[in-house]
Amino acid sequence: MQQKGVTVWFTGLSGAGKTTIGDRLSIYLRKLGYKVEILDGDQVRQNLSQGLGFSKEDRDINIRRIGFVANLLTRNDVIVLVMAISPYREIRNEMRQLIGNFIEVFVNAPLTICEQRDVKGMYQKARSGEIKQFTAIASPYEPPLSPEIECKTDQETIDESVFKVLTKLQEQGYVSGEFQ
Ligand code: ADX
Repeated sequence: MQQKGVTVWFTGLSGAGKTTIGDRLSIYLRKLGYKVEILDGDQVRQNLSQGLGFSKEDRDINIRRIGFVANLLTRNDVIVLVMAISPYREIRNEMRQLIGNFIEVFVNAPLTICEQRDVKGMYQKARSGEIKQFTAIASPYEPPLSPEIECKTDQETIDESVFKVLTKLQEQGYVSGEFQ
């Protein structure tokens, strides 16, 4: 099986569901025999981007590092799943230009829902001022204007979101076969 590389770039607020969708997609693709790598914001920040903060400058550095690695993997025929808030439109577009084989997935859940979920308890800390520059509370989030896919995670199931991405990968010739 000759595999073609692509970066699937999940962007969205903290708690919107990027990692949940990306992880499930990775399990599915690996079962089908595809080589998949994950670049998850939380993990990257513990390793490649240790010490970086959340100013625009630091986030841009973080995203450029992720994009650099994603590009290397993509040109070696890997399916790369990036899950990072990546709040700035311009740098996401820069990564699209750099990588070429690029599918942008807007993982969209309203702030109120993300805040209710508060998976890591961070929104509460952001509201109280304990965490500074938190995305959508004290730092901007610029939604994509024309993403290939939008997953409204407050209105669709995880599997429905995963299926949307799979279908796009199939349409664009990165994966083949029947999915259910
Ligand atoms: S990005 O903006 O540079 O793309 P990234 O996805 O790598 O962000 O990291 C976001 C993660 O860092 C969040 O899931 C959260 O756990 C943690 N975090 C800590 N402080 C902040 C903050 N001020 N804003 C957003 N996320 C934060």
